[in-house]
Amino acid sequence: MASSTAIKLKSGKDLPAHVPASLVREVSQFLRPNTSPDPYASTKEVFETFPRIFFSPEFAPGQYDGTWVVTHYEDIRDVYQTDALYSTAESAGFQTLIGETFRMIPLAIDPPEHGKYRVLLNPWFSPKAITALEPKILATINVLIDEFWSKGGCDVAYDFGRIYPVRVFMDLMGFPPEQLEEFLAWEYAILHGNRDVERMKWGIGSAVAYLRGFIDEMRRSPAENLTSHIVHGEVEGRPLTDDEIIGTVAFLWLGGLDTVAASTSLMFRRLALDPDLQQRLRENPDLIADAVEEFLRLHPLVNSVRLVKQDHEIHGVQIKRGDHIMCYNATGNFDPSEFENPREFDLDRANNRHFTLAGGPHRCLGSHLARRELRLALSEFLRRIPAFRIKPGADLTTHPGLMAVARLPVVWDAGKALSC
Ligand code: HEM
Repeated sequence: MASSTAIKLKSGKDLPAHVPASLVREVSQFLRPNTSPDPYASTKEVFETFPRIFFSPEFAPGQYDGTWVVTHYEDIRDVYQTDALYSTAESAGFQTLIGETFRMIPLAIDPPEHGKYRVLLNPWFSPKAITALEPKILATINVLIDEFWSKGGCDVAYDFGRIYPVRVFMDLMGFPPEQLEEFLAWEYAILHGNRDVERMKWGIGSAVAYLRGFIDEMRRSPAENLTSHIVHGEVEGRPLTDDEIIGTVAFLWLGGLDTVAASTSLMFRRLALDPDLQQRLRENPDLIADAVEEFLRLHPLVNSVRLVKQDHEIHGVQIKRGDHIMCYNATGNFDPSEFENPREFDLDRANNRHFTLAGGPHRCLGSHLARRELRLALSEFLRRIPAFRIKPGADLTTHPGLMAVARLPVVWDAGKALSC
């Protein structure tokens, strides 16, 4: 076994002295572009053959330079929930790549400070607020289905999943609809760009410049949208600072823009490959909420990373202050001690407490919106579009980063589709 001095981090730096060489494993090779019906099939090997906690020497710009990885359900839950030991201070730190020092809010703020920002934002994302949005979400979805229902086919990832949640999110924030393509280009450069630092800098730089201009506009002309609410909002009885405003708007932009789009692409990919499941859901729309939960569990888009605040041990492994630790949702959601037959889609699964929307204080703020959008997209599509299948010859490759399939051409019998 190589000594720890011989092993380098991918960035070229030395492996930290307290990290035993025997615990070093590269994890990114397991989440690669692939065509498997289950894009996470390869992570079974990580769960079964890697140490329960290991150290990945990989470099993720703006996030970590070498990180511990926890793979079991119980350990991931502990990391999410124990904010006394684990901080989000460096999470999603893409703005640091362009020399910006504002913090991404609320994600990069630890409790108890974190709570005051959630108080500001929660009312916009409560179940009641999302119910009020439902007519708009339904209309957005059906405008898109109107464009292709009679054609007997569409690209369900590109022409549908890529668009409807982004339109809903942009409307909520008050962003002009014509910004959609440019926003997505910037977002893809940051989250889907295969860690190309120059592309990431361009994406985050362009987004921050645009968002600052938009914030100024909202300052001058207040409007009924979430950006304006943040610009003119208060935390603990005082207005937000400029850094707090850009930090909050920029993180919402980053976290809310195309996450549902990615989940939609994977949900339809799975459905297109499983005609029996499609039929069961078409016949039993009351099962759609459970189905969405199972689609979410099987497709955890990201793995959260935390900064270690204090020296401590996990299962006898020494973890030091300043280390990073990754919650590997790509195995946690498939841990057989929590989920029976974890690699199977099970519509009858009870207590489906997966990590796709994270856990602990930073549990996804947009979770109710995301779930509602996915449920409505699925129910409307199944209501109007008959049995669909992958167009022969289509490329089904999924790409990690923010796991997604870019294109998903599907076909159906146009004569059986509904006009509305
Ligand atoms: C299926 C879609 C979505 C997935 C899979 C997802 C996933 C996540 C995950 C994993 C986290 C935690 C990150 C961490 O712990 O490092 C998170 C946090 C967050 N998400 Fe989502 N998200 C989705 C949709 C959305 C939407 C639509 C919005 C907003 C419109 C949103 C806004 C946020 C915010 C603001 C946080 C930070 C919460 C906090 O720190 O308190 N997300 N999301």
